[in-house]
Amino acid sequence: MTIENAKKKLAEFGQEHLLRYYDTLSDESKAALLEQIDETDFSVVSHIADFGKNLGRGVFSPLAAMQRDEIVKREQEFREAGLKAIKDGKTAALLLAGGMGTRLGSDSPKGMFDIGETKHVYIFQRIIENLLDVVNETGTWIRLFIMTSEKNNDATVQFLKEHDFFGYREDRVCFFKQEMAPACDRNGKILLEAPDRLSTSPNGNAGWYASLMKAGLGHIFADEGIEWINLFGVDNVLQRICDPCFVGATIMADVSVGAKVVRKAAPDERVGVMCLEDGKPSIVEYYELSEEMMNARDENGDPAYNYGVILNYLFHVPALKAVADDKMPLHVVEKKIPYIDENGSLVKPESPNGFKFEQLVLDMIHQLDTCLPFEVIRENEFAPIKNATGVDSVESARALCKLNGIDL
Ligand code: UTP
Repeated sequence: MTIENAKKKLAEFGQEHLLRYYDTLSDESKAALLEQIDETDFSVVSHIADFGKNLGRGVFSPLAAMQRDEIVKREQEFREAGLKAIKDGKTAALLLAGGMGTRLGSDSPKGMFDIGETKHVYIFQRIIENLLDVVNETGTWIRLFIMTSEKNNDATVQFLKEHDFFGYREDRVCFFKQEMAPACDRNGKILLEAPDRLSTSPNGNAGWYASLMKAGLGHIFADEGIEWINLFGVDNVLQRICDPCFVGATIMADVSVGAKVVRKAAPDERVGVMCLEDGKPSIVEYYELSEEMMNARDENGDPAYNYGVILNYLFHVPALKAVADDKMPLHVVEKKIPYIDENGSLVKPESPNGFKFEQLVLDMIHQLDTCLPFEVIRENEFAPIKNATGVDSVESARALCKLNGIDL
């Protein structure tokens, strides 16, 4: 992109300040900045006007989950179907590890965090150990995709190599980077993180499918006959991955996606719950639940909106072709964004000073036709690490690991 074209594009979006240091830059830095301006979608900033809340929601209705009693009754047939699919190489695992983990407050990728007390127990290690349980049971090295971002890719790859992938076969692991989106201040002005670089943030965890395709890895599905992808987050250290029972139940239900869910701890728990929106599967956020929805009951007298998602989904690969990024809403998230000030000094804010823009996996679900919410026992499978202390923290996850006999 030429400097003239860059000026024109920036003027269109009121972002001319991004060339503030241009004249002081080396030729190489000038070219890098112009390339970034060329590639950046500045239109995202317009979403701060309604703070991303005006997401145009439809009419909600309940979506029944497959509950524990039915799962226990049919466990044998589900497990057999799941084990067969895994042994036939039809399932892959995909770890979403592109997030910034800012709430945890560590500068390193979240998966490198050590939750051990008497020995090292890294989050990545816990995840791989869980996946290895299924590898050992099936004698099948499940393909593991790991999504990183430009900000944490090198550290992640290096860490896993240094630890010999915690016993996983390196040739069964594929890394790819997700896309970035610009980050702006409270007035919608995109910030600079260096004189020749706009501030950016990973574009949300829904970016995984487009980024995987862009990385040229899509052919692996066809080459290896992968039909199902188990997508999961980095933070849940009790996560079961490619769990044969869940895989079998989802395949037998013949749906586009299976979603592991947990029973809500309280009607007003701050968790997104599975439902239908205009007749299609969806997730309603806790702040969108009306009083009426909170009190609604199913035919057994149980709360009708009662199953929270835990970011563990099994996607049917053919169904993913229908997902269109441009139909997914953009979420505006408050964030601490490091930036350089008028004097060219780097500032690391103590509290949120602007916004990042994300598309979320939960909005992908709404683009699919059918979903099986599959109940799992919270204490056994859900130990998220979001914060350093308190709710969903290192402390609470440690306690849950111990409850499940995991040595820390
Ligand atoms: P979170 O919603 O917890 O976001 O991600 P985060 O960025 O990791 O953490 P905070 O909000 O800054 O504290 C849930 C899962 O989605 C992944 C994360 O790595 C985590 O596994 N994720 C999130 C991505 O892979 N990319 C993203 O852009 C955002």
